[in-house]
Amino acid sequence: MDKSVSLVSGIGDLKTTKKYYDDWSRKYDSTLNQWKYTVPKKSIRLLKSKFNIRPNKILDLACGTGLFGEELIKTYKNSQIYGADISEKSLIIAKEKKIYKKLFKKDFEKKINFQIKFELVSMIGAMTYCKNFKKLFSNIYYYLLKNGYFVFSHRIDLWKKQNFNEILNAHKSYFKIKFISGPNNYLPANKDFSNKIKIRLVLLQKI
Ligand SMILES: C[S@@+](CC[C@H](N)C(=O)[O-])C[C@H]1O[C@@H](n2cnc3c(N)ncnc32)[C@H](O)[C@@H]1O
Repeated sequence: MDKSVSLVSGIGDLKTTKKYYDDWSRKYDSTLNQWKYTVPKKSIRLLKSKFNIRPNKILDLACGTGLFGEELIKTYKNSQIYGADISEKSLIIAKEKKIYKKLFKKDFEKKINFQIKFELVSMIGAMTYCKNFKKLFSNIYYYLLKNGYFVFSHRIDLWKKQNFNEILNAHKSYFKIKFISGPNNYLPANKDFSNKIKIRLVLLQKI
C-alpha cells in the first residue's frame, strides 16, 4: 500500500486505521523523519516560547509511537505524561521509549476515566481521524483542569471541507481560542503533501 496516498485521502474506519498504524509502527518514526515532520517541535515552541505554558500533568491523545512525547519530555522534564492511542503496536514502541507514565489503548472519542485532571491535552497529527467533534471536545473538557490547555494540529484542506471554524465556534462557551497559526508545513519531503497540504496549530483554553 502506498502510505502517503492513503494518508491524503483518508484511511477508513477505526479498525482499518488501527491496522494501518499497527502495520506501520516499526517504521513510522524513520518514515516521518524522512518526510521531515516537525509539527511536534513546532507545537512545543508554541506552548513554551509563545505562551510559556508549564504543565505538570499532560495527556497526549493519539500519541502513536511517542514522537510528540519525546519533545514534551525534553521540555517538561518533571511532568507526568499519559498517552492514549488505538494502535497497540504503536503503543508498544511508545512504551519502549520510557516517556509515558501510563499508556491506554483507547479511541479518543471514548472517555477514559482518569482519577486525575490534566493541565495540558495534546492531539498532534490526528484530528484527521475525528468523526465526532462533539464527543472529542466533551472528553477533552472533562480531562482538563479549569484554564487547562488543548493543543492540536489540523490539516487546512480538511479544515475548509469541514468548516472547522464553525466547529470551534460551537464550543466557544467551553474553550477560549488562544491561538490559530497560519499555514505550516506538514510532511514537506513527502511528494503528496509537500507544499500542497499544510496544517494549522491551534491552542484552546478551557473556560
Ligand atoms: C499521524 S499519527 C500521529 C501520532 C503522533 N501524535 C505523532 O505526532 O507522531 C496518527 C495517530 O492517530 C491514531 N489514531 C487514529 N484514530 C484514532 C482514534 N480514533 N483514537 C485514538 N487514536 C487514533 C493512530 O493510531 C496514529 O497513531
